[in-house]
Amino acid sequence: MRKIDIFDTTLRDGEQSAGINLNTAEKIEIARQLERFGATIIESGFPAASPGDFDAVQRIANTVKNSIVTGLARSVEKDISTAWEALKGGEQPHVHIFLATSPIHMEHKLMKTPDQVVEIAVESVKYARKYFPLVQWSAEDASRSDPEFLAHIIRKVIAAGATTINLPDTVGYATPEEYGAMFRYIQENVVGIENVKLSAHCHNDLGMATANTLAAIENGATQVEGTINGIGERAGNVALEEIAVALHIRNKIYQTETGIQLKEIKRTSQLVSQLTGSLIQPNKAVVGKNAFAHESGIHQDGMLKNPLTYEIITPELIGDASTELVLGKHSGRHAFKDRAVKMGFELTDEKLNKAFAEFKKLADSKKEIVEDDLFVLLTDQQINEKEVAVYELESVQVHYGSVNIPTATVSATHPNGELVTEAATGAGSVEAIFNTLERVVAGEAHILDYRVTSIGKGRDALGEAVVNMTYNGEVVTGRDVAQDVLEATAKAYLNAVNRQLVKEGQKTKTAVV
Ligand code: KIV
Ligand code: ZN
Repeated sequence: MRKIDIFDTTLRDGEQSAGINLNTAEKIEIARQLERFGATIIESGFPAASPGDFDAVQRIANTVKNSIVTGLARSVEKDISTAWEALKGGEQPHVHIFLATSPIHMEHKLMKTPDQVVEIAVESVKYARKYFPLVQWSAEDASRSDPEFLAHIIRKVIAAGATTINLPDTVGYATPEEYGAMFRYIQENVVGIENVKLSAHCHNDLGMATANTLAAIENGATQVEGTINGIGERAGNVALEEIAVALHIRNKIYQTETGIQLKEIKRTSQLVSQLTGSLIQPNKAVVGKNAFAHESGIHQDGMLKNPLTYEIITPELIGDASTELVLGKHSGRHAFKDRAVKMGFELTDEKLNKAFAEFKKLADSKKEIVEDDLFVLLTDQQINEKEVAVYELESVQVHYGSVNIPTATVSATHPNGELVTEAATGAGSVEAIFNTLERVVAGEAHILDYRVTSIGKGRDALGEAVVNMTYNGEVVTGRDVAQDVLEATAKAYLNAVNRQLVKEGQKTKTAVV
């Protein structure tokens, strides 16, 4: 079995996608779950990007023990030394430096000659090695680079001390045959490549990220990079859960071992979706709601006769126990705590008490509380770190009738503690809520996008709302859940506003970089 290291970049390349903005508590929660998932390396952010990023990377490096924590840096000394300050508390400090190597990027973006690019790459790796024992060097846009130049610069950065070489398909342009050939070429033409890790990093613009990553593995890659649920810039990065399951199910072909805990896939995917507000398409491979649903009569008949006729992956393999009834209305605090601990939550007594109170409220209106419900409820408490005063929804009421003008009334507590009540109309219930909330909050808000979905299955499933908006000129996404989708909508709106307030509060803290 060949060992393939899994490099997760959900918190860096994934967080870079439009509309995603995680706060530090949420990033730490995701990092802890990625550690349980078994990621070899967690790319926790870009420390030099902002004080908020620096803080998150530092806290993750100091928290995570069983995965290597890395951070991104441009090929400049300031980025690398800032990365060191953020990452030096980690178990094995690791930095990820990148520089573009394709003609189009060198000429039009960097405005440097190939010789200058080689020099910058070598100097940055040498500088990084003064601090870091592990230095990954990425040739940005490798798949559109001249192979001879690529081999030349890789020889130089290995001599300068790079311990991993990454060959990204930055714009998702390569075909599996081309991407695999690049890995072969580099191994055949770079002496010493066998002494460093060789990494694949694929984007999904042409829908080929999974095939390209597997082609890289077949052609000698020893590390693969990607994100949970495939989130990322544009069409996203390769979905790591797809790679992990493909390598497992088709093990006879690939003969590799990743160290990924497949049973943590469902939970990791759910957490990332919940905290980023990026919904998973129902037919998404491995983690989509319908990934295990057999609809047609012929398929159902086959499944009854022998599940192997149509099922190559089982929900159990990825830890999907979401429909299991876990607790009911009469469950006590002890049983609740027990379940929370079994699910891997470590909540303080105060947070546990709050979560239990929420659970009791939910159990009054929802007959069956399944693992999905508990997961959402416990996660919300876990990440509930009120760093600055925020808006809190007290009540929302909507009058709707097909012949009346929909009217909403909302009461909310302002960050200054004042309770404000406003009312407004709209073309529909949701617009009436948005119009009312616009009067409630102090800043300027514009809705960009809005979605509702259900958590789990069944008529009494929790409703989840995601609101993408601008607040005070910044794009921000909020989400929340409630038994009623209109309440979830109002909460999601305020969640977005609160995120922006927290961000603004963080900016006013003393800059560390
Ligand atoms: O896609 C890419 O090229 C990247 C680099 C920063 C590695 O994300
Ligand atoms: Zn990328």
